[in-house]
Amino acid sequence: MEIVIVTGAAGGMGQAIVKTLVDAGFYVAGIDLAEQSSFSHPNFHYEQGNVLDEEKVNVFVGQWERIGGVVNALGVAQSATPIEEVSMDFWNKVMDVNVKSLFIMTKAVVPKMKQAKKGAILNIASISAVRPRPGLQAYIASKGAAESFSRAMAIELAPFQIRVNTIHPGPADTQMLGQFAAEGADVEEAKQQIFVQSVPLGRLIAPEDIAHSVRFLLSEEASAITGATLHVDGGRGL
Ligand SMILES: NC(=O)c1ccc[n+]([C@@H]2O[C@H](COP(=O)([O-])OP(=O)(O)OC[C@H]3O[C@@H](n4cnc5c(N)ncnc54)[C@H](O)[C@@H]3O)[C@@H](O)[C@H]2O)c1
Repeated sequence: MEIVIVTGAAGGMGQAIVKTLVDAGFYVAGIDLAEQSSFSHPNFHYEQGNVLDEEKVNVFVGQWERIGGVVNALGVAQSATPIEEVSMDFWNKVMDVNVKSLFIMTKAVVPKMKQAKKGAILNIASISAVRPRPGLQAYIASKGAAESFSRAMAIELAPFQIRVNTIHPGPADTQMLGQFAAEGADVEEAKQQIFVQSVPLGRLIAPEDIAHSVRFLLSEEASAITGATLHVDGGRGL
């Protein structure tokens, strides 16, 4: 059986991605720090786990012979903070969760994909990597690194027919969005005043908007697309 791995599978986008892929007929294996996933289905295997734990990731990946795809939808946010107030520990945490995790998961799945001469890897970064917002320096740097890592892997893995792409979401309606507001700010007000107004199409991005693009980029219809970055942002990057 061929599976698609989703990291951050219990998160806002992760859950929508899992459901969309299961609906499309994929067998999905999800991993997240959360104890449980609220979604269950015979074609969905869920495990609690930290993707920064390389040993755990190797055991998780080792359960399947064929891995058709990986969607890295895990992540950690940053509340808008001046650089002088950002601790080294926080910087390291953001870099670990948003970048090192991609290295660990990619390293674990590539041998199987190379053997099959087939595979698709998708990394969820952020439109903020190219259209920054003040006070998010650690997060934005991590998302720029995620995109560069995807491109580096795309060229390295192309000879093995393994495609690697990036999605840059705009402000998306998940619990993470409120975390980008400054500490103490009214989250609902920030959503309307800052985030909705920053999107030319005039609405927040739905987790399903991201999931539909994931489904396409994993599919055979996208077989000529690698090293690309798809902006699913309602025009926020313009
Ligand atoms: N929500 C937005 O506005 C927005 C915008 C642009 C990009 N993004 C990116 O989209 C992705 C998904 O974000 P979301 O909005 O669904 O956030 P979310 O907080 O709802 O989900 C993130 C999930 O990642 C999991 N996670 C964190 N660290 C982990 C680890 N070490 N191992 C395993 N799981 C871990 C969390 O438990 C959580 O369930 C993230 O990469 C985020 O940076 C989000």
